[in-house]
Amino acid sequence: MRTGRGRTAVALATVAITIAAAGGVVAATQSSDEAALQPARGSGGGDNVERRVEALLRKMTIDDKLNQIQLLSDGQIKDHPEEASKPVGGVFSLTDPELINKFQKQAMSSKLKIPILFAYDTIHGYRTIFPIPLGAASSFDPNVGATDHKIGARESAAVGLKQIYSPMVDVSHEPRWGRIAEAGGEDPYLNSVFAAARVKAAQGRDYSKPDKVVTSVKHYAAYGQPEGGRDYNTTDMSVRRLHDLYLPPFKAAIDAGSDTAMCSFNSISGSPGCADKALETDLLKKRWGFDGFIESDYTAVAELINHGVAGDGAEAAAAALNAGTDSEMVSQHIRDNAKQLLADGVISERRIDDAVRRILRVKFRAGLFENPYVDVSQAEPAQLKPDAVKAARDAAGRSMVLLKNEGSTLPLKTGEKTAVIGPLGDDGHAMLGPWWGQGREEDAVSVFKGITEQNPDTTFTRACEMKHSEPPDNTPADECANPDFGAAEAAAAGADQVVLAVGESREQSGEAASRSDLDLPGEQEELIRRVKAAAGSKPVAVVLFNGRPLALGSVVDDAPAILEAWFPGVQAGNAVADVVFGKVNPGGKLPVSFPRKVGQVPIYYNHEPTGRPCDVTQKYVSRYRDIKSCDPQYEFGYGLSYSKFEVSNLRLDRTTVSRNGSVRAYVDVKNVSGPTGDEVVQLYIRDPVASLSQPVRRLRGFERVTLEPGKSRTVSFTLDKSDFGFHDNSGRFVVERGQIDVYAGNSSKGELKQSFQVTG
Ligand code: BGC
Repeated sequence: MRTGRGRTAVALATVAITIAAAGGVVAATQSSDEAALQPARGSGGGDNVERRVEALLRKMTIDDKLNQIQLLSDGQIKDHPEEASKPVGGVFSLTDPELINKFQKQAMSSKLKIPILFAYDTIHGYRTIFPIPLGAASSFDPNVGATDHKIGARESAAVGLKQIYSPMVDVSHEPRWGRIAEAGGEDPYLNSVFAAARVKAAQGRDYSKPDKVVTSVKHYAAYGQPEGGRDYNTTDMSVRRLHDLYLPPFKAAIDAGSDTAMCSFNSISGSPGCADKALETDLLKKRWGFDGFIESDYTAVAELINHGVAGDGAEAAAAALNAGTDSEMVSQHIRDNAKQLLADGVISERRIDDAVRRILRVKFRAGLFENPYVDVSQAEPAQLKPDAVKAARDAAGRSMVLLKNEGSTLPLKTGEKTAVIGPLGDDGHAMLGPWWGQGREEDAVSVFKGITEQNPDTTFTRACEMKHSEPPDNTPADECANPDFGAAEAAAAGADQVVLAVGESREQSGEAASRSDLDLPGEQEELIRRVKAAAGSKPVAVVLFNGRPLALGSVVDDAPAILEAWFPGVQAGNAVADVVFGKVNPGGKLPVSFPRKVGQVPIYYNHEPTGRPCDVTQKYVSRYRDIKSCDPQYEFGYGLSYSKFEVSNLRLDRTTVSRNGSVRAYVDVKNVSGPTGDEVVQLYIRDPVASLSQPVRRLRGFERVTLEPGKSRTVSFTLDKSDFGFHDNSGRFVVERGQIDVYAGNSSKGELKQSFQVTG
């Protein structure tokens, strides 16, 4: 049962932190101070954390231990006096600082005085809402993710929260899946860089600090690949894909210091995430050296029964605990069955001690024993501070991707009569996207408001309403309802220029929001076609708000300009206006491929080759009969700018390298025309002949650079075995001899190419 949550219901490529050298060579991949922080566990509790953990553990009865393993929701603790009176390890989604202090006081007055760890889903902001993570990833700037988590941590900690269920790092090749909005898209490397940046920013060097929190990387593992894109559905994949595509961001987050992790709802090749010993204990804890704790996702322990790997609650508890799950969210099977299971010898006290030790360790590191309470008077002043609002606006601008700009339609001019048209044109609600935390609609700047601010002569025409329905109706009709296209046409005809604000409702993305179609819902394509016809040769710019890649259909031809804004957060309208009027030159790139049709899904850049590669002039090759292209509509890494850039002169510092050596790649980038702007230089590799067929491209480095007109820079990347090695089907990391091709450019289609040989 869901209770009151404010909503219904292996190795990271350590590429390319090169030392800036003379001659304009810039360091690649990480630029932010936050992102550059060294990984650090919390040091609250001093150097004696382990000693204190052991001393406390010795005093605990079995009941005390089981209570620590229990994690309850806000509703469970608020509405059930019997739960509220028992000690509990953690509580999530409770955000009232007075109540947090009240329950904490209760815990601190109990026999053992063990504080509660309060947690929350601060995914892309707490009160100051930043772009959804898929949008943030489009910035190809880890500093965007870092800033969002630094501010999210500060605002969360100010109300007494000390753990966030973030970053969400599920690589996904499934745009039908609503939760693709919550992570960084289809690439493991991009997700890894963002995961590390977010963890370091939220935890800092020491998460006992008053503005820091411990992160929980989720959902472990491979939750992003549900069959058919249907949320919570089965995942089945090869071991090497699991290791090469889906696990790297988890490893990156753990290496960056994430001290907690959440196991996932889905089963992976038959083994549900919260009952997978190989992943939880053998890999995460033993191989990766993770000494924090793993909490289950929501009722994932109870769901082991539905998965068919446990016959009842007791069996579910044993399966989860024995696999390595340390803390049970919402359901209470471990707490309620452990004594019997111990008596039956199905679980061991040693394992219970291990789980409790991990939970206590995090609480000591978080400084909760010294500082269990929050200063209520500071909770509200810490929210939506001017620096946070400014950062949210910058982040939103950096996250937008210019998909099309025929005849330099954008930027529009200020001082002209502007018509904002479309169902999302004056909608603060949608701008916050899924997982809006404590974001409030009234704080959100709508497109109309933002555009009017910079261009007072602006009108707004909704044209239709975004409607959605939820079960029990069971007919989720997400549509553009009550259309009045006549009004839209009149507005377009009467203005000098048009901004069309269209897309999905925020309810169409996020958890339990899978779609079987990827088009613009309702008749929005028709709306665009009619507005364009009414506007004639006047500039018309389509601004898209959505939580997944869309199959844009006729929009690609009808719209002269298309700007992908995702769900940009609390400063949406201001950021859209910044880009639309050219104050900000768009420089984002797609972190996911946009298909032409839903039937192409899964379509992603880092696929393996086939024996019969796609060729639209041939029949017996791997292609669709009804699509005259082998490509997606817009590929991974694609995005335009108001300036033109040239990426050239890829060169390597050597042509052979030993398996433990490294190769340096250099690429030049120049702003050849247009205003100051940003280009993302991208480096990909391919192992063309290996013992297991390797992806046709793999991103292994990127750098977003800002260049004034006519200026150029050289960007450098370092490649080593963490880049050119891969996993085999027993999960072993292997580095093979032979050729490695290196590609560079400004998208995954970059054609500059060089090669080197890996020797013995
Ligand atoms: C989601 C998690 C989230 C948890 C707690 C679950 O339904 O899958 O991502 O952290 O709820 O809110």
